Amino acid sequence: MSHKKKEKDNQEKRIFNFSKVLYKDIIAPSCVKEIAPGDISVNGQADSYWVEIGDISGAAKYCRSYYANITGNATYAGMLNSLYTIDFGETDCDVALHFSPADTSKVVWQLEREIARLEADYAEEANSARRQTLLKNIHELQRRHSALTSHNEKLFFGSIQVTVTAQDQNEMKQFCNLLARRLRTKNVILKAADMRQLDAFINATPLGDNIPRDAYQDLESSNIADMFPFGTGGLRHQTGAILGHDPQGNIIFYNCWHPMHENYNIVIFGRSGSGKSYLVKLLSARSVLINIMTVVIDPEREYENLMVGLGCPYISLSPDSKDTLNIFDVDLVDEDGILRADIEDAIRAVQAVVFRMIRVYDESILTGQVKVMILEKIKETYEHFGITEDPQSLYESPTNTDIIHVSGIKKKMPQLSDLVELMRMEPVLEDVSRILATFTKEGGTPSYAVFDCQSTVDDIWEYPMIAFSVADLDEDIMRPIGLFIATRWVWNKLSRDRRKRKRIVVDEAQTMMDTPETAKWLEDSFRRSRKRNISMCACTQGFEVFLRVDEGIGILKNATTKMLLKQEAIDIAAVREKFSLSDGEAEFLLTAPKGWGIVKANEDASVFFGEATEREHQMFTSDPNELVLLAERREGRGK
Ligand SMILES: Nc1ncnc2c1ncn2[C@@H]1O[C@H](COP(=O)(O)OP(=O)(O)O)[C@@H](O)[C@H]1O
Ligand SMILES: [Mg+2]
Repeated sequence: MSHKKKEKDNQEKRIFNFSKVLYKDIIAPSCVKEIAPGDISVNGQADSYWVEIGDISGAAKYCRSYYANITGNATYAGMLNSLYTIDFGETDCDVALHFSPADTSKVVWQLEREIARLEADYAEEANSARRQTLLKNIHELQRRHSALTSHNEKLFFGSIQVTVTAQDQNEMKQFCNLLARRLRTKNVILKAADMRQLDAFINATPLGDNIPRDAYQDLESSNIADMFPFGTGGLRHQTGAILGHDPQGNIIFYNCWHPMHENYNIVIFGRSGSGKSYLVKLLSARSVLINIMTVVIDPEREYENLMVGLGCPYISLSPDSKDTLNIFDVDLVDEDGILRADIEDAIRAVQAVVFRMIRVYDESILTGQVKVMILEKIKETYEHFGITEDPQSLYESPTNTDIIHVSGIKKKMPQLSDLVELMRMEPVLEDVSRILATFTKEGGTPSYAVFDCQSTVDDIWEYPMIAFSVADLDEDIMRPIGLFIATRWVWNKLSRDRRKRKRIVVDEAQTMMDTPETAKWLEDSFRRSRKRNISMCACTQGFEVFLRVDEGIGILKNATTKMLLKQEAIDIAAVREKFSLSDGEAEFLLTAPKGWGIVKANEDASVFFGEATEREHQMFTSDPNELVLLAERREGRGK
């Protein structure tokens, strides 16, 4: 033995033996040692093979490695996922995959010879059962041959190594047995790397390049794709509501209030029928369990079933309903312990509604001068009713002078007809007041006058879910106005209690984007929501339409979570650009089945399917055929 080699051996011995603490021990263990049956291990005589990683006090970890063999090349997507995510207390397992390209032409030639041999056997075989088996084998080889020659598949040599690491010998053995049993059911056979455990251990680190030949097997590119841990990156929220699962079957937890999120807002984009409302229902119903309250503004009477199912209020805003909202309501805001009547916000909201109402008939009438005068008249209306920033000005007879606890009989608030009355006295506003009058009781169209009233909705805020329907209002004119009024009304009521987590859902939000004032309000609400502990959620179809206005872009910027469902072909280019989607993701969104989508929150993203239980589905679905069936089933039971 040469002098040099001896010195190297000694050096190796020093590395692999217990020694006193050196600075290297801070970054590397003092001892990595292979144990064989009969060797003296820390706990006495060993009965099988493993590797011990030690520190100065003895062995700290036990590792046992296996090479996995897939029988019959039968792989399927995500087949090794359980290995990547397996959890067994302190025990863990690491997977090392090594692939190297094989010489395809050589394999093609071997396949041709094998096929020719089997065909000859087939021609001579008399037994029909054996002929069938031969034929099956020939077909399989022909399939592989054609996949390789047409370059649909490439050939690789691959090895799969699994290394189990535990802090306790018994735990390691138990875990190894469990793993071997579990994988056998998936056509994966584990062979222990006995007598070469140390080599195997090093192979699982970036230092190893010494894979034994018998650990390799032929694999086609699709086999390798099946083993890859796609999708396990996903959304990494530890807690939250269950959103569904990813294509590998991993459950996705989603938490709006995740500490890494700058805001709690959500936007959901998808073409009509892609499952936006269904997803909202799923998320809202499950959020109840984690103490998040949801209020939905429903433009299509889609949420009634769910609310009835949950025993929560479904408030319909229509001429026949006893539930009414007044756009002039002023709410109290808590600013560092001091309550203030937010009259400024109320004025802005009334202005937005009034402008929108006028625009329905004659946009040109809204000149700069008219706008300013309308604003003055709104302020005057409040003054007339004695309403100021002082919270007590909202009450008839203040009984308590303590500003924090305002009580008493609520004052009658101004209504739209009061504003119209004042405007009439101003000659310049004559035409405008005539238009606005159609939205008051005197206008003679009850469905247009639903918001010229005092609010009657109260005492609902303890429910975990509430829905307001504007579906009974006429689609073109009153529904978009109602959507805005209800959303803003709810927003103000919910702003008060900042400790409570709550979500406001605006379905079909694109209808708020076609007038500047309502679009502006929605954008502002997305910006201001975090301080009020509100999660705003806007669902919309027509991505391009939504983003055509600056406010749409503002909303997108102020929503940490984006959920994308199936997209229209005309929108896909814009969606792709805005969310930096890959080719694959864009293609997926064009063809996504109902309920499938992509969720993005900060850096995390995952493909998901919002899967409901059967009971949930009965409450969530709005498919008319299913609803008829469900109603029939209920009636049958009733008889
Ligand atoms: N995740 C899902 N699982 C099962 N069915 C779904 C799912 N998403 C949508 N659907 C079906 O598709 C219908 C339309 O979905 P919906 O949410 O109303 O679409 P959108 O609001 O996007 O127009 C639902 O009523 C339901 O029957
Ligand atoms: Mg919908």
